Amino acid sequence: MLMRSGPSLRNSADSDGGGSFGNRTMTKLLEMSGIAKRFGGVFALHGTDFSLSAGEVVGLIGENGAGKSTMMKILGGVHQADAGTITLAGKQVSITSVADATALGIGFVHQELSVFENLDIAGNVFLGREPRTAFGLMDRARMRRESAPILKRVGLELDPSTPLVRLSLAQRQLVEIAKVLSLNARIIIMDEPTSSLTLSESERLLAIIADLAQQGHAVVYISHRLKELMACCSRATVLRDGRNVGDLVGAELTHHNLVRLMVGRDLPPAPARATIVANRGGLSLRGVRTSAWPEHAIDLDIKRGEILGLAGLVGAGRSELARAVFAIDRALAGTLTLDGKPLRINAPPDAIRAGIALVPEDRKLAGLVLDMSVRENATLATLPHHVRGGLISRQSERAATTKAINDLGIRTASGELSASSLSGGNQQKIVLAKWLATKPQVMILDEPTRGVDVGAKQEIYTIMRALAANGTAVLMISSDMEEVIGQSDRVAVMHEGALAGILSGTDINEEAVMRLAVGQVAEGLAT
Ligand SMILES: Nc1ncnc2c1ncn2[C@@H]1O[C@H](COP(=O)(O)OP(=O)(O)OP(=O)(O)O)[C@@H](O)[C@H]1O
Ligand SMILES: [Mg+2]
Repeated sequence: MLMRSGPSLRNSADSDGGGSFGNRTMTKLLEMSGIAKRFGGVFALHGTDFSLSAGEVVGLIGENGAGKSTMMKILGGVHQADAGTITLAGKQVSITSVADATALGIGFVHQELSVFENLDIAGNVFLGREPRTAFGLMDRARMRRESAPILKRVGLELDPSTPLVRLSLAQRQLVEIAKVLSLNARIIIMDEPTSSLTLSESERLLAIIADLAQQGHAVVYISHRLKELMACCSRATVLRDGRNVGDLVGAELTHHNLVRLMVGRDLPPAPARATIVANRGGLSLRGVRTSAWPEHAIDLDIKRGEILGLAGLVGAGRSELARAVFAIDRALAGTLTLDGKPLRINAPPDAIRAGIALVPEDRKLAGLVLDMSVRENATLATLPHHVRGGLISRQSERAATTKAINDLGIRTASGELSASSLSGGNQQKIVLAKWLATKPQVMILDEPTRGVDVGAKQEIYTIMRALAANGTAVLMISSDMEEVIGQSDRVAVMHEGALAGILSGTDINEEAVMRLAVGQVAEGLAT
């Protein structure tokens, strides 16, 4: 608990200390110093420092596994440091639980969402501090009433009584942000808050962050989207292997500097676009209708040799389309052909047999079994390949896992560690490894680089490009505009369940994608 009892710092007037809320920006609001943390044999942090002033938005960046989330989880009371001190507004504090952190005015939007599916939106926003009626019952009406303006602020204009199960990943992320905003915390930690958000939602969030800083809140912003980071932060602290490697301030915050500090070297240039897409067949969708948008029939060709980007706003129906192709959800109508031959796909195993792979959007739910080891996850889709004499050969599995770890640069001390112990970006790479092992004819990737660091992103792009060059048809669903523009040979854009248009060649640019995504009809586009 706190070293000092009494009112929480969030509400206190701070009569005896410096750094009161909103003024005296000279005193650091937060100083974390010499923070060390070990998980078993893994040293996540080696005496790491971090500081924050009121009114400041500070980026915390580094490669996957650098220790960003761990550092902030220590501040948020999720983990306890092995060594080091935390000083808030000049007073040393001990934070041993999430409740301590909350009482100290620390709000945390986690990288892995922590909202509850069986509650409605308002219930999630007020979780753990539900207002009560005079009879001691939960005051649902008040929760709904009070959550409405916060939801509006984050751009989630849904009825607060909507159950969470009905919300997309991005909408859940917005609920999580609303929950933290409603706490009115003094320090707000955002661990990859925009990873599920598309351009317009992210822009809104960046505006909210600027607002919060203006009001004197201090914000820690963790993101692998460097462009956004540069747009909202005045300073960035860079971690590498659990150590501080530098602080960049103001004009020093350039893409080049950030990458150099994070990675420790310059990155190789990105793989080039395939300029000519040979007509070598591929996957064709005709008249496909999903239950999410039954009124629209989709015709789409994903050609062998190309990376077809699929863009759109949150909720435009892109993931639903992928899930229908893979028969996770039943398509209501339509046909699929591969190289002109009709496919009969009633369930995911049929899709896998037909040579289709899907790297799903939500790795925690659909892509990865967190309790299983890296090896078990990486070989899950290709178990028959590892059968020797009727039994699964550990040795064969291990060899394949070691290769995947090397090929994709997965950071783990061993293939036998549980997937849950890896950092977010490394978990994403395991899911990718699992599907690459199937040597797919058609690879559908739903947000393949969500939460992945710059270096690993580049590696994933190179892998996607190599797949395409070897004749795989690649469909890349992405909310990251830089990625859509930079990596796609053609870009299909969806709007409210319909295909709004397809861009290719020099027509691929941010403005054109956005126009289609928001439903403005463009002229002269090939479909
Ligand atoms: N609960 C845990 N158990 C074991 N090891 C852990 C645990 N949490 C983190 N680690 C390890 O600590 C190191 C730092 O992880 P952390 O999650 O802080 O990285 P990160 O910088 O947030 O990465 P990312 O960008 O991928 O989110 C990694 O090597 C990770 O595998
Ligand atoms: Mg992290």
